[in-house]
Amino acid sequence: MGCGDEVCAADETCASCANDCGLCPDLCGDGTCDASELCSTCDADCGICPDTPVTVTRGPYLQSGSSSGVVVRWRTNENTDSVVAYGDDPTSLTNVAASSTTTGEHAVRIDGLAAETRYYYAIGSSTAALVGADDDHFFTTAPQAGAARPTRIWVLGDSGTANDNARSVRDAYESFTGSRGTDLWLMLGDNAYSDGTDDEYQRAVFDMYPDTLRNAVLWPTLGNHDGHSADSATQTGPYYDIFTLPTAAEAGGVPSGTEAYYAFDYANVHFVCLDSYDSNPDPNGPMMTWMENDLAATTQPWIVAFWHHPPYSKGSHDSDSEGGLEDMREFALPILESYGVDLVLSGHSHSYERSMLLNGHYGRSGTLTGSMMIDSGDGREGGDGAYLKPGSTTEGAVYIVAGSSGKTSSAPLDHPAMYISLLELGSVVLDVDDARLEATFLDDAGSERDTFTIRKD
Ligand SMILES: [Fe+2]
Repeated sequence: MGCGDEVCAADETCASCANDCGLCPDLCGDGTCDASELCSTCDADCGICPDTPVTVTRGPYLQSGSSSGVVVRWRTNENTDSVVAYGDDPTSLTNVAASSTTTGEHAVRIDGLAAETRYYYAIGSSTAALVGADDDHFFTTAPQAGAARPTRIWVLGDSGTANDNARSVRDAYESFTGSRGTDLWLMLGDNAYSDGTDDEYQRAVFDMYPDTLRNAVLWPTLGNHDGHSADSATQTGPYYDIFTLPTAAEAGGVPSGTEAYYAFDYANVHFVCLDSYDSNPDPNGPMMTWMENDLAATTQPWIVAFWHHPPYSKGSHDSDSEGGLEDMREFALPILESYGVDLVLSGHSHSYERSMLLNGHYGRSGTLTGSMMIDSGDGREGGDGAYLKPGSTTEGAVYIVAGSSGKTSSAPLDHPAMYISLLELGSVVLDVDDARLEATFLDDAGSERDTFTIRKD
């Protein structure tokens, strides 16, 4: 490595450098460059060595993962090229993916990976590795679409408070999942209060969840607070800068052509993410048209949809009187239910509200009838019994509002479609295993406050 490179290597001497400036090491007097030694602290600043050491200031974090690829992202304080070294042994990372573009916002797509395989990795530049090559830095590729594999999904809603509430919800989940880990995780919007700025994302997401970020692919949706500083039509603003989301069906589904809404597959689950804040919800608009095409094309047994504004809520937002919520209920639900959606996840209301097994409820809460309740029981195998969707049955979906991962806001919590409504901090854990989906609401003290099961066998 020469002095003209972005970083000093600890074992580099001026004498071995093609651009030997003859100044730094000599003046430093120790005969070697020191990675923490700055030209600006040198009386004869030669301007060749870096003024600041290169450090990772964000991430690494994982995006758009599939059974054959993933995008590794991170931020550095100084611009460099980008290198990810990866392999099946943290002490022998024999493969390299790289980008020669000099940047502080690094995004390296790795392709050609084996499915359901753990890869250890390190990030850095062509001149120096920065972090990784240890037991803590790994990603695991998804199973092939359609393969039934035990899958754990962590779901956070309105988590962006960057405070002790979010920390306690995080810690409760981390201790709950332990060495089981997380296969993928969802953020249901309002990921960084109050305006989704880059600084707010740093505190509410990158400083809050570093462990999960570097090991599991994060799939977010846009909340209204994220939308204060982002624009879906132009795909601009911090939300769109920070996340690399599939526009061309890189992880399955039908290409959406936008990061605002997208689909992907993981094992035998098909996920659909909608933008309930800043994209046209019209049933004949681009988003719903794309969604219908995507749902028509999937052969996955499980369909999970998520977006920010809940179709049913009597939490801090009321689905009987707020347009954004009503639009999603009236326009998205008929399409989703006609293709057999199993579970819909939203946030926005800062509470946990979980419905019975429903079908065909597209009006206000007062229009709910008995025939719309496919199963009004608790959905628990130790109680009224699991919700059943045997064979090719398409009717029946559970709707969860999970917007209490960062704060709670008191409200009536009396929507008649809900089996249970709780004003508690927490997050949702989904476990899908073949023909069985189990959901758990885990509060911030680690207690399992609600569970239900959907079975297709
Ligand atoms: Fe919101």
